[in-house]
Amino acid sequence: MEFVHKSVLLNETIENLNIKPDGIYVDGTLGGAGHSYEICKRLSDRGRLIGIDQDKDAIAAATERLKPFSDRVTIVRNNYCNFKSILDELNISAVDGMLLDLGVSSYQLDNVDRGFTYRADAPLDMRMDDRQDKTAKDIVNGYSERELFRIIHEFGEDKYAKSIAYHICRYRENKTIETTEELNDIIRGSIPAKARNGKGHPSKQTFQAIRIELNKELEVLTNSIDDMIKSLKPGGRLCIITFHSLEDRIVKNAFRKNENPCICPPNFPVCTCGRVSLGHVVTRKPIVPGEEELEENSRAKSSKLRVFERV
Ligand SMILES: C[S@@+](CC[C@H](N)C(=O)[O-])C[C@H]1O[C@@H](n2cnc3c(N)ncnc32)[C@H](O)[C@@H]1O
Repeated sequence: MEFVHKSVLLNETIENLNIKPDGIYVDGTLGGAGHSYEICKRLSDRGRLIGIDQDKDAIAAATERLKPFSDRVTIVRNNYCNFKSILDELNISAVDGMLLDLGVSSYQLDNVDRGFTYRADAPLDMRMDDRQDKTAKDIVNGYSERELFRIIHEFGEDKYAKSIAYHICRYRENKTIETTEELNDIIRGSIPAKARNGKGHPSKQTFQAIRIELNKELEVLTNSIDDMIKSLKPGGRLCIITFHSLEDRIVKNAFRKNENPCICPPNFPVCTCGRVSLGHVVTRKPIVPGEEELEENSRAKSSKLRVFERV
């Protein structure tokens, strides 16, 4: 299957990265290299791009796409949370810019065999990194009712989380849940018919929740932002594109904390905690796609770009 993915907020991200021709840039979510291609175009032969993705299909597609720039590109199959050790291995101590374009690519969603989509029947999988053993099937069949409720409620923000968790557990008392269609049927049966009408696909939020849990998406993001900011050179920028409010909140709060890390009580005349600001938030409000992009790319709908600049 061909790797098709339309990059979101492409111009806005490239503009905000302030690319220097001789600079070093990290793309932590390489995907089909849509953003990376534009970065590479702006680099001289002394510039460098390190592209990271944990998905082998993305690595293959990006390697092909970035062939014209192979003299300035290093591609690594890994989780972006390991970016520091990747940079250490390359003897790079600080970079001029970093980018995260979170979540899954259209290719991952559209490739039925990957088991991400509720729009086709396939084995429940949802792994971004297929070297990992645990799959969506293990979550759906192995988590307790309480754990299922928690993830569907927290990561899917589905108001029928309790009923969905209950019905999953009742179903699997008789049979292991193997496929996306089986899970679809259970979810459909957990939501009152009236509530389903005109509200989009009833499985959307539960599938999102399972995917986030399986790939530890929020944990990895939360644990990486501070170190990414620390790894920027003065004036270097971190650009993060998120696709739902949970991710966006994590980025917003982490950026704010790095801008103003002081924990002294507000009535202290001077700061005594010694925590110093690492830079400033460039985007007081997140950058969102324009009408034209929204018309052309439905995946852009919930996207938000936030930018932080290192002092
Ligand atoms: C939205 S796509 C990126 C698309 C890319 N910016 C483009 O324009 O082609 C997200 C990519 O990030 C990868 N990804 C998500 N979380 C990751 C993580 N923690 N570590 C490494 N790769 C990750 C996914 O496998 C996917 O290929």
